[in-house]
Amino acid sequence: MSSLFTNISEVVTPTLGAKRGRAMRDLTVTRDAAMLVEGGRVVWIGARKDAPIGHAERDLGGVAVVPGLVDPHTHLVWAGNRLADFEARTSGVTYEEILRRGGGIRSTAAATRAASEEALVASSRPRLTALAASGATTIEIKSGYALDVDGELKMLRAIGALRDSSRVTVTPTLLLHVPQGDRSAYLRDVCEPLVEIAAREGLAEAVDVFCEREAFTVEETARLFDAARRAGLRVKLHADQFHAIGGTKLACDARASSVDHLEASGSAEIRLLAESSTVATILPGVSLHLGLPSAPGRALVDAGAVVAVGTDANPGSSPLLSAPLALALAVRLNGLTPSEALTAGTVNAAAALDLHDRGALAPGCKADFLALRSDDWRDLVYILGASPVRDVFVNGEVLEA
Ligand code: NIG
Ligand code: FE
Repeated sequence: MSSLFTNISEVVTPTLGAKRGRAMRDLTVTRDAAMLVEGGRVVWIGARKDAPIGHAERDLGGVAVVPGLVDPHTHLVWAGNRLADFEARTSGVTYEEILRRGGGIRSTAAATRAASEEALVASSRPRLTALAASGATTIEIKSGYALDVDGELKMLRAIGALRDSSRVTVTPTLLLHVPQGDRSAYLRDVCEPLVEIAAREGLAEAVDVFCEREAFTVEETARLFDAARRAGLRVKLHADQFHAIGGTKLACDARASSVDHLEASGSAEIRLLAESSTVATILPGVSLHLGLPSAPGRALVDAGAVVAVGTDANPGSSPLLSAPLALALAVRLNGLTPSEALTAGTVNAAAALDLHDRGALAPGCKADFLALRSDDWRDLVYILGASPVRDVFVNGEVLEA
């Protein structure tokens, strides 16, 4: 089955592969374009007048086309809500204080532990549908809201059920979020068995750890990374969200796929990321929602890091279910240019997930792409509050809402 997509004002894409630093600005633009898709892959892109003949034509109505977005960091599966925390924060209680008092992540964990796998799938599916409809065609989803062995495995199975029933790509990550009780017993009896079981049963592709004063120490994170490596899983890290306590150095030394957050990163962390292949994933929804400083996106790009953007969709720090809005915020809050933001949300985000066949539109790439509501691709990161995306295509077929 082949389709020739025609009447495209412009196809705008980075080239395949992670881009570092100012190279994130280099986009390939084909005007008055056509694109041939066969078997779910792009086979040809060029000017309409040069298009191969003999294929069924699909007229896209004169709009711009960009690659499907990749969201490399979400916590889409949870139960309960954090509306009371939100209200408390508006009267001055901080996110960290709420976590210290046993609320925040721990209150989501109590609700998530109490929910069945089926209930988790049912309550999370509309969020996945919304994020996909926004333009995210590949979405990472983490566990991390149960904090015990059975509950985390239940979360991973719920993520697996979402993956198996969704047309967008879902990549599951085991998140070791906050320790409970006796810390070394928690690592030995909960975290390490979880890593081993998740790997053995194929429930996770990566292990993520929250390295922070109120969560895991650098030493504990190192031990968890060792367990993940022994089990054959990739590692990634939540680091420098509130305090730069050394997680970024550990992650770069461990060749982690990505270090995510970075709001509190300073020049030493920026340099480490610029010198490493670890992707620096920034999450502007958190800065907006918590009213806290933004990650130094501009400085990371200028230093030469591979920068990606994610939504961090979650109930506590980033209730953001739009991948284009995450990019739009990265332009406003983190100082990325529109071109850099597109690269951050496509090929660089794919690199953070170790996926190398997407995030770009070129022969051989997965035919995941977005038809915008505009003939100028920059509307993708310009429009706020209404969707700049008209149609989402996965493997060359439109994604029905
Ligand atoms: O990425 N920082 C830790 N984890 C999540 C927040 C989770 C929550 O507040 O529920 C984050 O911001
Ligand atoms: Fe997160």
